[in-house]
Amino acid sequence: MSKRQMIIGMHLGNGYGSQPGAWRMAGVDPRSYTSFDAKVRQAKAAERGKFQFLFLPDGPSQVVDVDEEAPNFNLDVMLTLAAVARETSRIGLVATGSTTFNEPYNLARQFKALDLMSHGRAGWNAVTSSGEDVAANYGQRLPSSAKRYGRAHETVQLVQALWGSWGQDAWVHDQTSGRFANREKIAPINLHGDFVASRGPLYIPPSEQGQPVIFHAGGSPNAHELAGRYASAVIGASFTIEDARAQRTAFRNAAERAGRDPDEIKYIPGLMTTIATDRRAALDRRIAMTERLFPQRVNYLQQMLGVRLDSTRLDRPLSREQLAAASPSPRDPRSAHALAIAREGWSLRDVLAHGVIDYHPVIVGPAIEAADHMQAWFEAGAADGFWISPDVYEDGIDAFVDGVVPILQERGLFHRDYEGTTLRDHLGAPAQYGLDPRVSR
Ligand SMILES: Cc1cc2nc3c(=O)[nH]c(=O)nc-3n(C[C@H](O)[C@H](O)[C@H](O)COP(=O)(O)O)c2cc1C
Repeated sequence: MSKRQMIIGMHLGNGYGSQPGAWRMAGVDPRSYTSFDAKVRQAKAAERGKFQFLFLPDGPSQVVDVDEEAPNFNLDVMLTLAAVARETSRIGLVATGSTTFNEPYNLARQFKALDLMSHGRAGWNAVTSSGEDVAANYGQRLPSSAKRYGRAHETVQLVQALWGSWGQDAWVHDQTSGRFANREKIAPINLHGDFVASRGPLYIPPSEQGQPVIFHAGGSPNAHELAGRYASAVIGASFTIEDARAQRTAFRNAAERAGRDPDEIKYIPGLMTTIATDRRAALDRRIAMTERLFPQRVNYLQQMLGVRLDSTRLDRPLSREQLAAASPSPRDPRSAHALAIAREGWSLRDVLAHGVIDYHPVIVGPAIEAADHMQAWFEAGAADGFWISPDVYEDGIDAFVDGVVPILQERGLFHRDYEGTTLRDHLGAPAQYGLDPRVSR
């Protein structure tokens, strides 16, 4: 049997990179926010590295201080992926689409059209959305978790039913006989739930992978149940091997409860990267990008460590007394790692430059450190792969592709080429058309 290998996805966001300040870095076109050419270039760089998919998060909302920072997301995730689909041939294309603020018919139509356009590479990250800022864009308040997840279950089922409503062999398109399609094999779905309804059918034939692959992002018990039923992959966020292993197990158990094989659901936590020749060069790169945020981050770091810190003395390491008094906050899973870095004797500025307050584990150093992290998590049963957030897309994707990927390939942990052409192939996800008969209520 061939060795199990990891899946790698890449975060494709606002055109610049995952770090604040990326838009100002040398070599970055400051207009990338509106440039579909930039997104295509970034997608191609990831495809050169044989990444299995691109992941496009979405609010949609833009909660940043636009005086100094670029908004978080793509102008429109589906339009970005339409552009990318036409310029790439293998990489999977996964967009976030809210189950709370979209009608199932619109979701079904757009994602299946993208699946056809990309020859079977589309994935739908079905999320319930969070944040009143997003709800306000739809003239609403954020519904309760029970309502959001109730609507999510119905929405995913309706979308899948609509995808299956055009029979797999219904399209005849025979010019000689004049038969375009077999009407008998295209049927309404007539589904009416408590939250959403649709008659259908959806007039779109199957793609090369049948229908798009379902992803989910979330960590609550409700998220486990939703993903356990429908998702082939989970976009995760975990700071430690133990937490990631527990999350992965929770999703696998939920899949099993839904009557599926737990191997059908891949748990993919995030990893942020600043790759450079050595640790010092990588730290300096992070400092150049984000140092202006360090004073406010010192405030946060002191809460994580439970000691007073002085933001006017970024050059100094923590004193012996501070280190002795520090204890990691149980409320923040990043705290133990932050303290471990501080104990290595780095200056306060360098501690922060290690990304100890970022949204995911961060590699700030040479490529081998990223490869070692990924191998350790993968072999500990904490992950089936990773979604990578490079600090700056312009050169950070290439740094990963040319530095980290060859090491993983050399170790037999990552494929050397795409095994197939569809996203389902890349994930090893079983064929599915319409609803999954095992989990439909
Ligand atoms: C790694 C990760 C990525 C996420 N990406 C998105 C996103 O792009 N858009 C979105 O609306 N929510 C996103 N979410 C949030 C989830 O949809 C969900 O609202 C949040 O985790 C709260 O979960 P709960 O409603 O189950 O409590 C993401 C969550 C995680 C863990």
